[in-house]
Amino acid sequence: MDLRKENILIVDDDIDILELLQRHLQSMDYHTYKAVSVKEALFILKDTFIDLLITDIQMPEIDGLQLLKFANEHYPEIPKLVVTGYPSVEGTLEVIKSGATDYLTKPFTKLELKEAVEKALKQNTSRKKLVPKAVNQKPNIYADMVGESEAFKKVTNIIERVKDNKATVIVTGESGTGKELVARAIHYSGKFSREPFIAVNCAAIPENLQEAELFGYIKGAFTGANENRNGFFQAAKGGTLFLDEIGTASLAVQTKLLRALQEKEITRVGSQKIEKVDIRIIAATNANLREEIRNNTFREDLYYRLTVVEINVPPLRERKSDIALLTEKFLRKYGIEFKDRLLRISPEALQILQRYNWPGNIRELENVIQRAVIMADGSIEVKDLPDFLKYQIDFSDNELRPLRDIEKEYVQRVLNHTDGNKTKAAEILQIDRKTLREKLK
Ligand SMILES: Nc1ncnc2c1ncn2[C@@H]1O[C@H](COP(=O)(O)OP(=O)(O)OP(=O)(O)O)[C@@H](O)[C@H]1O
Ligand SMILES: [Mg+2]
Repeated sequence: MDLRKENILIVDDDIDILELLQRHLQSMDYHTYKAVSVKEALFILKDTFIDLLITDIQMPEIDGLQLLKFANEHYPEIPKLVVTGYPSVEGTLEVIKSGATDYLTKPFTKLELKEAVEKALKQNTSRKKLVPKAVNQKPNIYADMVGESEAFKKVTNIIERVKDNKATVIVTGESGTGKELVARAIHYSGKFSREPFIAVNCAAIPENLQEAELFGYIKGAFTGANENRNGFFQAAKGGTLFLDEIGTASLAVQTKLLRALQEKEITRVGSQKIEKVDIRIIAATNANLREEIRNNTFREDLYYRLTVVEINVPPLRERKSDIALLTEKFLRKYGIEFKDRLLRISPEALQILQRYNWPGNIRELENVIQRAVIMADGSIEVKDLPDFLKYQIDFSDNELRPLRDIEKEYVQRVLNHTDGNKTKAAEILQIDRKTLREKLK
């Protein structure tokens, strides 16, 4: 696991700048945490190993100078970089006195940002580099997840960084890609794993009950509230609250959630009493929240609080090199469950699985294997797979085509399968790398 790249906390009330910084920094392979206010930045600093703080100066409520002063007292070893729109002389002096390593004036180019970040990070000599620790003896297993594609490694890399802190995480991806598994992996591999993990599917709770279910209520709050009741927030105390299908949360819940993330405070339905919350929130969605924002069904300010760290789980068709390992895992699981033994799959059958496009992602693959295990006599053969998998081969254009074109397409397909790894592709094609290189030209 590659943990060499640094964790950078960016603080700005201007969403556009925040996103721009995030985009640039992520393209340079840094890992970023976002905060829309100083208060939220402080929550992240408290339990996250941050290597560089980048902050705006002018912000409502508490400004960046105060953040810098606080960080200098409590985190003197973290270098600080200021991004400001107003490089006035007095302002500059104050920034330097406040202990910032350097400052960058808006607008800035990506190159200017890159240089400023590298320079600032160099200041930090006292800091020991994170030593990658073995997560598991087998590098392609993480918690309950298996995979070996680059895409999979990216996901586990982020999990590794966030598991021990309480920064809010949002997991996005198509249905069946493994979002819930990612949330569980964060919780159960981290240092709060002994605390509760509470999973709530917002879509499964009727809108009018969501608020009471999540935040609890007091006796008499509404008809039928005969006693004080805890909600999921209270139940998750000290641990993780997983809010699945967050896009379906009612607006009342969204308002309360915003306050929980911003101020770490909640109130029960029917009560004025403020309760402090100390939990990590992981949200998940397969909906396009930006679209919901445009339709006014999702609060934009909440969106930015939820996306402190984002994990996008790519669809299976974009990481086909994981299919063999996943298949093996499900064969073991269902083989033991239904046949009391390990089953094998024939190379031809596996090839069909690898060729298919998997609109239903990992859940669909799991179902196909479960069915095949039940159908098979010995090992899984082509005949044990459902027909729709076998006929996906594209016969639509019946015209006859030059071998060169077909060869090109096929080489490309193999390369996709190996995530662009030419050595592996050459192995599969049984040609040497040099020949492959020539073909690619
Ligand atoms: N990397 C993985 N390794 C092994 N099993 C996986 C992996 N990812 C997902 N699965 C399995 O695939 C199934 C679907 O995963 P999960 O329920 O986490 O998906 P999801 O993204 O939450 O789906 P939905 O959007 O429908 O809620 C589960 O049975 C899960 O155990
Ligand atoms: Mg799910």
